[in-house]
Amino acid sequence: MANVTLRNVRKTYLGGFEAIKGVNVDVADGQFCVLVGPSGCGKSTLLRMVAGLETVTGGEIDIGGRVVNQIEPADRDIAMVFQNYALYPHMSVFNNMAYGLRNRGMAEAEVKSRVEEAARVLELSAMLERKPRQLSGGQRQRVAMGRAIVRQPKVFLFDEPLSNLDAKLRIAMRVEIRKLQRRLNTTSIYVTHDQLEAMTLADILVVMNGGQVEQVGNPLAIYEKPATTFVASFIGAPPMNLMSTRADEIKSQLGGSAGEAGILGIRPEDFVITDQTPSGGVAMSLTVEAIERVGAETFVYGAREQEDQRVAATPGELPPGEVIVRIPGTDAPAIGQKIRVAAISSKLHLFSGDGRKRIEA
Ligand SMILES: Nc1ncnc2c1ncn2[C@@H]1O[C@H](COP(=O)(O)OP(=O)(O)OP(=O)(O)O)[C@@H](O)[C@H]1O
Ligand SMILES: [Mg+2]
Repeated sequence: MANVTLRNVRKTYLGGFEAIKGVNVDVADGQFCVLVGPSGCGKSTLLRMVAGLETVTGGEIDIGGRVVNQIEPADRDIAMVFQNYALYPHMSVFNNMAYGLRNRGMAEAEVKSRVEEAARVLELSAMLERKPRQLSGGQRQRVAMGRAIVRQPKVFLFDEPLSNLDAKLRIAMRVEIRKLQRRLNTTSIYVTHDQLEAMTLADILVVMNGGQVEQVGNPLAIYEKPATTFVASFIGAPPMNLMSTRADEIKSQLGGSAGEAGILGIRPEDFVITDQTPSGGVAMSLTVEAIERVGAETFVYGAREQEDQRVAATPGELPPGEVIVRIPGTDAPAIGQKIRVAAISSKLHLFSGDGRKRIEA
């Protein structure tokens, strides 16, 4: 077992593109760390650097107290599971899992015992003689995990291992991966662009954007106090509503903590439909434009009146002037109806005008 520490890690690809711009992360022994962020933000690059599949152009990667920048992938004591898990089609499940161990010259008795133990843990014991084509997608995914487990590595690295599976199987495998990781207690780094997968798997969540870390921490702590508007819109679905706010409004709402215009954030679930304005809270009028009923809850999409100073939307954010309200059950206002919605003061998030800084009340 081992901790993984990234110290000011940088990557400039040949041709000069800077994909990773100085990343610091500390994953303690046995922790499950998830790297989450939009496509192209550098998640795979960073993971592949930990694996030794990409050179490090700046900073240090430390696994178990040893800087591994110059160490070959095979000597880093890591095992990686990819999205495209590429099993050998002509080999049985047993041989697929045994392949890497035999390649290293491990004694056959030890190979057998490791593969059988991994198969037991992954509930593949009855399928060891089958070929990959005789397995379901989820079973194939488990074989790929088995290949990693038999290595008994210090660190597991996962790059979107579930994205080839259908939605239901993904959820089932997500739970399996977490149970397995807790049982084996192996330090893990897991890459995904799916914020829900990230929230549910992570002990420590790293939100990335454009080659940099936006925020690191406990997933719920990040959900409750996003450090930037990027994190606020990326973590949580539907995304947080972000609205421009004038300085005098901020002063009255948040006790004069800011002298300039900023961005007010309110999560859809923190709005209630009411004619009252909670003291210290915020109320606004919306014209209902669309309704989505998903069973246990309903999403109401409304247009805000008097959107004086528009906040430019970045990917993942709502378009300016649009507000989502999430209400329990299936009762909802009619399309075209005017409603008043309100949020209490403890549910308000405030950010600097550029969205880069959270302002505490
Ligand atoms: N070999 C390469 N040479 C130059 N640029 C590269 C190379 N590999 C990746 N990049 C660039 O580095 C950036 C980060 O890529 P990376 O694959 O790490 O993203 P990602 O976060 O894993 O995205 P995705 O969610 O789409 O898998 C991208 O802009 C990509 O185009
Ligand atoms: Mg990737």
